[in-house]
Amino acid sequence: MKLLVTGGAGYIGSVVAELATDAGHEVVVLDDLRAGFRAAVPQGSRLIVGAIGDPAALAQAFASGPFDAVMHLAAEAAIEESTTNPALYFQVNLADSLTLIDAMRAHGVARLVLSSTAATYGEPRQVPITEDHPQAPVNAYGESKLMLETCLRWYHRAYGLRTVAFRYFNAAGATAARGESRRHETHLLPLALDAMAGRRPPLRVFGHDYPTPDGTCVRDYVHVADIARAHLLALERIDQLGLAFFNLGSETGYSVRQVLDAVARTLGREVPSEPAPRRPGDPAVLVASAARARAELGWQPEAGLDAIIRSAWEWRQRHPHGYRE
Ligand code: UFG
Repeated sequence: MKLLVTGGAGYIGSVVAELATDAGHEVVVLDDLRAGFRAAVPQGSRLIVGAIGDPAALAQAFASGPFDAVMHLAAEAAIEESTTNPALYFQVNLADSLTLIDAMRAHGVARLVLSSTAATYGEPRQVPITEDHPQAPVNAYGESKLMLETCLRWYHRAYGLRTVAFRYFNAAGATAARGESRRHETHLLPLALDAMAGRRPPLRVFGHDYPTPDGTCVRDYVHVADIARAHLLALERIDQLGLAFFNLGSETGYSVRQVLDAVARTLGREVPSEPAPRRPGDPAVLVASAARARAELGWQPEAGLDAIIRSAWEWRQRHPHGYRE
């Protein structure tokens, strides 16, 4: 297939582009490189530098089609920032995304694989979280993605747009070639590994009084390559599915403390850490049920937490400063 991958220079998008290219798909990446890196884009896929909300960039991107599908991963995705600057999140994740989808419609592209998020659920009423769990986001990031999901339900009904939306839980880990690199890092595992290596100050553990066994937040970490694989499975099934929403998680929750312990156990070195206040917008527990993706896509995550940690560390050792451009 010929695919347009937005955000294909970013962490998850570049791994989707990598696996898609390896599987024989032809990939064009659209990325404005504000958060992404040129070096993350796989050899053999074309990069168009531009924003999803920019009509000129969209015209250029779609002129390099026709595309069989769009994989839309470009987004603002920092939960805490979304609580202080919601305008950015609604602009990019909702308004600009709709501009992209309008361009798809104008160019007759009828398949969309969307990256959505576990943050659309808010504080879970029960775990593991199934896809029909009520969605009540507690941050503007989750709300912006939920609003886009809602639009897509209507677009499917009115325009027949076929959509598979993936609600990612916590993407982590690396392939041999691509890993987690941000100009401003906020995520647990890369910060913990850098703290362990002495490249950053001790990790600040946000919150010790959550209603969890050890008081720190529980998350469901899923390997980025497992996430990317689900996108390729979605391409095979999207015409039959029509409109579908899938959690992508490992179905296992680890607290922040347990992740730091797993790093120490797996890599043989302690992560220096210190207690810190809660971070705004963090739900206490997010753990997926992945039963639907298993049943309908035949998807099964392959890597557990230790493999995630090892892969992230191997990549980090080869790229101690991440991508440079
Ligand atoms: N954490 C710390 N210290 C840090 C960084 C993180 O204690 O320095 C904690 C957070 O409070 C949270 C956990 O580690 O409890 C994981 O935090 P991340 O920032 O790595 O990830 P989030 O759970 O906040 O968010 C990620 C993605 C979102 C997605 C969400 C869904 O970034 O896009 O997972 O589970 F919506």
